[in-house]
Amino acid sequence: MQSNSSDFHQSSPTVAVIGLGKIGLPLAVQYAQHGYRVIGCDINLKVVEMLNAGQSHVQEEPELDADIARLVEEGLLWATVHTDEAVRLSEVVVVIVPVVVDAQHRVNYRAIDAATETIAAGLQPGTLVVYETTFPVGTTSSRLRHILEHTSNLQAGKDFYLAYSPERVSSGSIFRDLRIYPKVVGGIDEQSTAAAIAFYRSVLEADIIPMKSTDEAEFVKLIETTYRDVNIALANEYACFADAHGLDVSAAIAAANTQPYSHIHMPGVGVGGHCIPVYPYFLLASVEKADPQVTLSELPLLALPRFARRINDAMADYAVQRIEAIAGSLAQQSVLILGVAYRGDVHEAAFTSAKLLRDALFKHGATVYVDDPLFSQSELRALGYTPLLPEFEGEIDAIILQAGHQAYQAFDFGRFARCQVILDGRRALNSERIESAGIRYITIGDGYREKPAQECHKQPVISSMLQSGGE
Ligand SMILES: NC(=O)c1ccc[n+]([C@@H]2O[C@H](COP(=O)([O-])OP(=O)(O)OC[C@H]3O[C@@H](n4cnc5c(N)ncnc54)[C@H](O)[C@@H]3O)[C@@H](O)[C@H]2O)c1
Repeated sequence: MQSNSSDFHQSSPTVAVIGLGKIGLPLAVQYAQHGYRVIGCDINLKVVEMLNAGQSHVQEEPELDADIARLVEEGLLWATVHTDEAVRLSEVVVVIVPVVVDAQHRVNYRAIDAATETIAAGLQPGTLVVYETTFPVGTTSSRLRHILEHTSNLQAGKDFYLAYSPERVSSGSIFRDLRIYPKVVGGIDEQSTAAAIAFYRSVLEADIIPMKSTDEAEFVKLIETTYRDVNIALANEYACFADAHGLDVSAAIAAANTQPYSHIHMPGVGVGGHCIPVYPYFLLASVEKADPQVTLSELPLLALPRFARRINDAMADYAVQRIEAIAGSLAQQSVLILGVAYRGDVHEAAFTSAKLLRDALFKHGATVYVDDPLFSQSELRALGYTPLLPEFEGEIDAIILQAGHQAYQAFDFGRFARCQVILDGRRALNSERIESAGIRYITIGDGYREKPAQECHKQPVISSMLQSGGE
């Protein structure tokens, strides 16, 4: 191959970044700041035009505005909707176009397939192609390799380098994370791994961890994200246990975590976002291709992540049961959900637990209002919620905090004259402030009970799942 894999920086080649979203745009800036000429590629014309005008469309990383203006001015960064042409001009292609799941949790590859077709149309011999999107295991080495080879008439490993490196950063702290999180890199062969490592060495200060294959590198990201989902599910189980025994789970977990091998997360009203509740399904999607002989006794492969997903999604229903244990049946009562974002202080509602809470409340006959200072009223309506208007404040019987936005620290709970109980689903509120307003303050797993037994104890979530076969 033409490209010298150990010499990316000196020859100052061009890098194409495919997908200029919340992650791709900062990556394009990172590479340009390290002396590369970077062409950002996106199908969204507005994103492309903004970049070429020196502007960022990503609010989460405020430093982007000044950096993009300077790099565009210096001629190191520009953008296009013509991915094939950009790839033709580039020695390195980094792909960060999303793969998502649908409502039935089936993996949807449409965007990455389309991006790969266009990359293949411009692919030149000697190019390094690295995927960074989170994938089911085997996606790079079979599905995408096939599209690249078939459309370009080039052979991976012989004519071009092909690698995978999961993007592990979090939106909001990307440049910090790029500095400190080790970069996991695996190629389809040794040369591809070496080429990808050489590229990342020239743009990152962080350590690099080579993996044996793209499959293994894909597996890493699914392990670290699914770990968090399973860990939270365990914390949620502990919370139900604590409620059943009148114990405070947060004090118990904090004490347990002083032992260096215990790292239990905190329980809550559910797990949201486009990563943690989604990637376990990527792992499960990879099971189809696994050796069917490999099972653990009678249990299906990856039984724990399957159950964890169900436990975390069941927490919305559990939250409603806890409120009913204090406020009585919610039929004909009004409940306010604070925060529709999937977590505190983000303007994003992907796979938010607010939706599960709303549906659980509806199932119990409640009228449901929402509040979220980061979303406009029309945005809330478009997401299917009823925003709380001041004239309905007096109707609210119970409140659930779903997203711990900073703004809720100064929220005036005194205005909800009829409210009996606040369930703080993220342990983010000041209990004294709420109780001084005459409202009962509870959390998931605080062990508080007005009645001797709750539904959760009679029918533990996990045992009912085992009875129903775990699906
Ligand atoms: N958002 C996060 O916090 C995060 C963290 C770590 C890793 N990731 C990974 O990064 C991926 C991208 O996340 P994001 O937050 O940047 O997504 P995003 O939705 O903000 O951006 C994706 C971009 O890809 C563009 N795109 C779609 N199809 C395309 C195509 N065919 N060609 C070119 N561009 C195309 C879209 O127009 C959009 O601008 C995720 O799927 C995930 O695997 C995300």
